[in-house]
Amino acid sequence: MICVVGSINTDLVIEVEKIPRPGETIAGKSLAHYPGGKGANQAVAAARLGAQVAMFGVLGSDQSGDDLRAGLLRNNVDVQGVERAEDIPSGLAVISVAKSSENAITVVAGANALVNRQFIDRHIKQLSRCDIVLLQLEIPLDTIDYLLHLLPSDRPLVILDPAPAQDISHLPLDRIDVLTPNENELELLTGSCDIEVGSRLLISRGVKNVICTAGADGAYLTNANAHTHFPALSVTPIDATAAGDAFNGALAWALQTRSLSDAIPYACAAGALAATKKGAQPSLPVLGEIEKMLKNKGQGTHRAK
Ligand code: RIB
Repeated sequence: MICVVGSINTDLVIEVEKIPRPGETIAGKSLAHYPGGKGANQAVAAARLGAQVAMFGVLGSDQSGDDLRAGLLRNNVDVQGVERAEDIPSGLAVISVAKSSENAITVVAGANALVNRQFIDRHIKQLSRCDIVLLQLEIPLDTIDYLLHLLPSDRPLVILDPAPAQDISHLPLDRIDVLTPNENELELLTGSCDIEVGSRLLISRGVKNVICTAGADGAYLTNANAHTHFPALSVTPIDATAAGDAFNGALAWALQTRSLSDAIPYACAAGALAATKKGAQPSLPVLGEIEKMLKNKGQGTHRAK
């Protein structure tokens, strides 16, 4: 069982020619609503591949809370750990997606802010018993810190996607089995724009494995033994929203039965496929799409550096 502790949002997505600069007003081309939130996206990403997934988060008692909960259920995500709060709206993200496929995201946490220490106390039994705990940073950082201290030291396996990027140096980094920053996040966490240097710094601070996603350059796995490159799968991206979430959800799914090196190509394929479709959860691939892509591109091999 994979347990995801994290955010659940409605995404308001505006298609634009380019991301506006500060002070600039531009015309949006279209407006759409999608289910999103980094936590919920990663839960759905793993469930679409066939994993048993339980989501832990907080929604408001509003219509979007009802819709987001129903969406998780439709994707076979267990929602017994999704609480409903009164007098606070469900999480909301306003996303501009440019023609280049880049995006700019503003999140109003709403009920996601209530994923706090008391919430963890109510669910720690189940979280401690699962195989993999998948975390992101769209809930309070204090909650992540508290949870990492409470989890047993040997299991579950902990994957932390440090997005949106923030300083995690005070967290018990030795309780993180796999940290999955992108290049920008890695630079923010370590001050280094060199993937190998930054990743090795995090390993020296206690993280067991770092997988840095590097867009068109693929991904790099670093641990005490090696620094290994995994090539990207080339696609024509139209919307990068949730590509990182697809990567993390697929990684968690694949790690249930595979080594890290064997799991990463699946995660790379999931991330690439998600960038070829609009929206967060609507873009998350099913297993057949990933297998087809890996077969066609001959991926699955990697070179050690
Ligand atoms: O990672 C993409 C997600 O970030 C979006 O779905 C949005 O809700 C924000 O949380």
